[in-house]
Amino acid sequence: MSDEDITIESRLAEQDYFEPPEEFVEQANAADPAIYDRFDEFPGGFEEYAEMLDWDSEWDTVLDDSNPPFYEWFVGGELNASHNCVDRHLDERGDETALLWEGEDGETRDITYDDLHEKVNETAAALRSVGVEEDDVVTIHLPMVPALPITMLACARIGAPHSVVFAGFSANALAERVGSAESDHVVTIDGYYRRGEFLDHIEKADEAMAETDRDPEVLAWTRHDEPEVDVSDDYTMVADLLDDHRGETVEPVSRDAEDPLFLMYTSGTTGQPKGCQHRTGGYLAYVTGTSKYVEDIKPEDTYWCPADIGWITGHSYIVYGPLSLGTTTVMYEGAPDHPTKSRIWEIAEAYDVDIFHTSPTAVRQFMKWGEEHVEGHDFDFRHMTTVGEPIQPEAWLWYYKHIGDESAVIVDTWWQTETGGHLITNLPALHDMKPGSAGHPAPGIQPAIYDDNGESIPAESGEAGNLVIERPWPGMLQTVYGNDERFISEYWERFSDTDSDDSSDWVYEAGDGAVQAEDGYYRVLGRLDDVMNVAGHRLGTMELESAVAEVDDVAEAAVAAREDAEKGEVPDVYVTVREGVEENEEVRDRIVGAIEQEIGKFARPNEVIFVDDLPKTRSGKIMRRLLENISNGDELGNTTTLRDPSVPEEIRDQVQTD
Ligand code: WTA
Repeated sequence: MSDEDITIESRLAEQDYFEPPEEFVEQANAADPAIYDRFDEFPGGFEEYAEMLDWDSEWDTVLDDSNPPFYEWFVGGELNASHNCVDRHLDERGDETALLWEGEDGETRDITYDDLHEKVNETAAALRSVGVEEDDVVTIHLPMVPALPITMLACARIGAPHSVVFAGFSANALAERVGSAESDHVVTIDGYYRRGEFLDHIEKADEAMAETDRDPEVLAWTRHDEPEVDVSDDYTMVADLLDDHRGETVEPVSRDAEDPLFLMYTSGTTGQPKGCQHRTGGYLAYVTGTSKYVEDIKPEDTYWCPADIGWITGHSYIVYGPLSLGTTTVMYEGAPDHPTKSRIWEIAEAYDVDIFHTSPTAVRQFMKWGEEHVEGHDFDFRHMTTVGEPIQPEAWLWYYKHIGDESAVIVDTWWQTETGGHLITNLPALHDMKPGSAGHPAPGIQPAIYDDNGESIPAESGEAGNLVIERPWPGMLQTVYGNDERFISEYWERFSDTDSDDSSDWVYEAGDGAVQAEDGYYRVLGRLDDVMNVAGHRLGTMELESAVAEVDDVAEAAVAAREDAEKGEVPDVYVTVREGVEENEEVRDRIVGAIEQEIGKFARPNEVIFVDDLPKTRSGKIMRRLLENISNGDELGNTTTLRDPSVPEEIRDQVQTD
């Protein structure tokens, strides 16, 4: 490190706040502090976001809160999301780029709004021709190829909610989601590139079809003109359907604002993932508004969020928000380090990206690879985002300096699959940045911090507690698909008066811990429930445990989150084996294999630890917290409620000697 570097590092490290550069403030979409006052007119302030959209008919009521927590937004309004993301831009921006796609193999596609219109229409016609009707849920299992946003928008056009399953999920996970969503149509592809290899993706569809008791029709796109792997004759080739519908247009279906736009399955505190159901009007309004004010997106920008569209970030801030604003959104198919660790910066330079949006995990990885992979690449970001996990000030500073060249603003955005869009984030021109803190509530959002008894902790006290949201917002989930009871029990029951029909008695529980500092900035600490965050991917400990329980050799299993410098958290699996089973590598491989099989390779555990017994309360409940302390080398804490208080110590001794 040079002397100059040392001074910059130490100056940065001592600084608590960073001002947005003047050039940024001058051009920002949200530069007038009065915006907060406008949104404090609750719920009317949110009309500002709805007015950013084209409506087929105006809403008559902004918010119907007569039946909490089943809130309804922009009631009486009608609109179509595909019209808003495509058709309405054609007059002015038809020949501007909507999607800029780069394959891992170097292939590129520049898809203008005119092209996107044509492809979405043909695909919508194709979906209709195989019997997809309004309100049918279409399950989409596609990687980062243009077919993914095209299929999503085609579904939106005909009013069929989509349920996108991240391509890294296993066949079993796909089958489970197809079953839960009662889907009669699954859309997949022959394969895609990852680290130079062409991955056979059809295999997963084949296995999932063998697994599910439903009999959905499978539609297969191809990555190249011809399929690269064997595709079953039972499947319908999308290319053939498109040939039959060349040049056809499909009138966008007018959807009620409250009609669902999509489902997104996410992990909760039980073994079964929940289908978060998002509405058309409120969701699209909220992601459009936050893309404009928080992401500062303008039509002439080139915006790049290298997340996967298979997670909520991609839905809200690769597809719906950016396209609704008519900008250019970049998609990259492959691994960030293929063929070299400069790939990301080569793309940023080649496409002249202005706005960059990534996760703390990715930042930590770039940091580990070293700035030499960034240097020499000529890109200039005006705005950068982080999402998905708390960011350590050290990683923030590295991002600020080496990626942002100390001239870009950074927004740290806290939100969830359930919230649809950002809830805690600074508006970048209006607040100084503070490394490690998401910052202020987004306009119109009312967070608070409660203690475990449901008492509100005084604002700006610096005391940690449960993060809650006290007022509804348009981007919030409508319900858990097909399970209103679970919607109430997972998010509302704990801090609400569930007998009341007065909306002010209903409080949304985020499941995260947070503190609000004296300066008003919120810092989100991480999950307080049995959900972990592995490299920005959300995983339920119970989901992992039920996968492990599939292995016959296993008597009992418990999963604990271990803190990890790179991935944030990683799962450790503690298992006891059945009588007569030997604790060996084969059993370990079977356990890892079961997780890959039930969830996907990305959920692979850090370690499998064989133990004689698991720490349990007298009533037999496994105390994961103690295992978490062991995994992280922390003090054990109170063990007096245990049936056998010696168990955790034995496990600890064993882990330390292993
Ligand atoms: C965590 C991702 C700290 C949090 C959009 C939340 C964060 C979970 C931040 C949701 C942030 C998200 N700072 N933690 N800026 N953003 N989280 O549903 O624990 O995949 O509950 O949505 O990620 O993960 P999900």
